[in-house]
Amino acid sequence: MHAWLCTTPTGVDQLQWTQLPMPTPGPGQVLLEVKAASLNFPDLLIVQNKYQIKPPLPFVPGSEYAGRVVALGDGVSHLQVGQRVACLSGTGGFATHTLAPAAMCMPLPESMSFEEAAAFIMTYATSHHALMDRGQLKAGETVLVLGAAGGVGTAAIQIAKAAGARVIAAASSDEKCALCKEQGADLTINYSQGDLREAIKAATDGKGPDVIYDPVGGDYAEPCFRSIAWRGRYLIIGFASGPIPSLPLNLALLKGASLVGVFWGEFAKREPKANASMMMELGQWYEQAKIKPVIDKSLPMAELHAAYERMGSRQVKGKLILTNNE
Ligand SMILES: NC(=O)c1ccc[n+]([C@@H]2O[C@H](COP(=O)([O-])OP(=O)(O)OC[C@H]3O[C@@H](n4cnc5c(N)ncnc54)[C@H](OP(=O)(O)O)[C@@H]3O)[C@@H](O)[C@H]2O)c1
Repeated sequence: MHAWLCTTPTGVDQLQWTQLPMPTPGPGQVLLEVKAASLNFPDLLIVQNKYQIKPPLPFVPGSEYAGRVVALGDGVSHLQVGQRVACLSGTGGFATHTLAPAAMCMPLPESMSFEEAAAFIMTYATSHHALMDRGQLKAGETVLVLGAAGGVGTAAIQIAKAAGARVIAAASSDEKCALCKEQGADLTINYSQGDLREAIKAATDGKGPDVIYDPVGGDYAEPCFRSIAWRGRYLIIGFASGPIPSLPLNLALLKGASLVGVFWGEFAKREPKANASMMMELGQWYEQAKIKPVIDKSLPMAELHAAYERMGSRQVKGKLILTNNE
């Protein structure tokens, strides 16, 4: 087997496509032939030692992937050799084969391709947990999604629409805004132009969004939080732009508003039953065509460096996929 190996987490350049012995699954594990893996923002951070989880070295990055079960470890009875599954295990996906924890493997419906499956769990679970659980989004409310053309952003647009909300999608170019419209956004704001507060005011008849979904952070956070509606919920998803913003707390008082932290991975660990029922609902929404992963590009696994470059330079619309040849 081959894998992209991270020996020193100093950036993307040090990753080497390395030949490794084929591993044998231990108890509770399965050996997967990886068909497709997706690039999530944490995959960019983890190889630079900037992510909150720091795996022991050396490690194979690639948090989320889909493939076929090749071998079962002891005690695995709910999966079969040959079965198609997706898994989000944090590492291991940028490879031809990987050992996956069987308990975290999600069997795939026939209708879901490996590419879509590799693009599903992280973004949809994060956005569903954020909007529906942490944000208590109701039908008829207005949601502002920042970084709306990205991975979690496109999932947030689709989920908010499925929940009956009105969606304002904000992104950095007209091209990205056009993609957001295709995903169901009612209105778009190109936040690289003009005054963001004025644009939000105009888009909400001066009332402000009920829920703000923010995976970007940086300079957008304060003008957005200042624009939130009475009893608004500001969902803190991530800081893709780099800086972690600070906010004057009087703004929360003035609007009776809440700043709400969202950490889907920890939620899944601490509240597995609630996470399982959420994943079940997402599976049903996929089958009902209410949600569908947006694939930016599928690149061969060998082009991982180019994929990282595309994500780091803010070019990705939806999700980037890396595939192994059939
Ligand atoms: N809290 C959780 O449980 C959780 C779970 C998953 C992901 N996240 C976080 O959510 C964030 C987004 O993840 P993602 O996978 O959706 O990433 P993504 O697809 O790359 O989207 C991030 C968006 O951020 C915007 N952005 C602004 N400045 C940027 C910069 N300097 N570099 C890159 N992007 C920049 C871009 O949109 P514009 O160009 O339109 O501004 C981009 O589309 C990350 O911070 C990630 O860690 C959090």
